[in-house]
Amino acid sequence: MDEKLFARALDAKQRAYAPYSNFAVGAAIRGAGGKIYAGCNVENAAYPQGCCAEASAISAMVLDGEQTISEICVVGGGELLVTPCGGCRQRIREFASDNTPIYICGPDGLRKTLSLGELLPLSFGPENILDKKD
Ligand code: THU
Repeated sequence: MDEKLFARALDAKQRAYAPYSNFAVGAAIRGAGGKIYAGCNVENAAYPQGCCAEASAISAMVLDGEQTISEICVVGGGELLVTPCGGCRQRIREFASDNTPIYICGPDGLRKTLSLGELLPLSFGPENILDKKD
């Protein structure tokens, strides 16, 4: 994993707004064009309205005109692997492929590299809708 991608995700983690869970997460995406897009989790007093770090980073990417994720780094705290939640696996799927690497990191660096296909096997994606409509 590229150190710059990790540095951007760690910086994003430090900007998280997570007063309810106290669980700050940062994410950084490298788009196919080479640029990096970062995001942090942004929680809300109405709990379900909170936004994950990965979703924030995807929004920044799309706003910039990029629609392909080459790699994504997620940084969280605690001892366990901070893998993307189920919803975010599907959000990543929209702009990535089975072999897209997802770097799961703690504040000290890389803990595990997984592919999207490992995290979301047999996924449903844009091709399902775009290839065949009845
Ligand atoms: N969270 C993320 O932002 N990304 C993940 O991959 C896991 C969970 C956030 C959502 C919520 O703000 C907090 O972490 C606790 O679940």
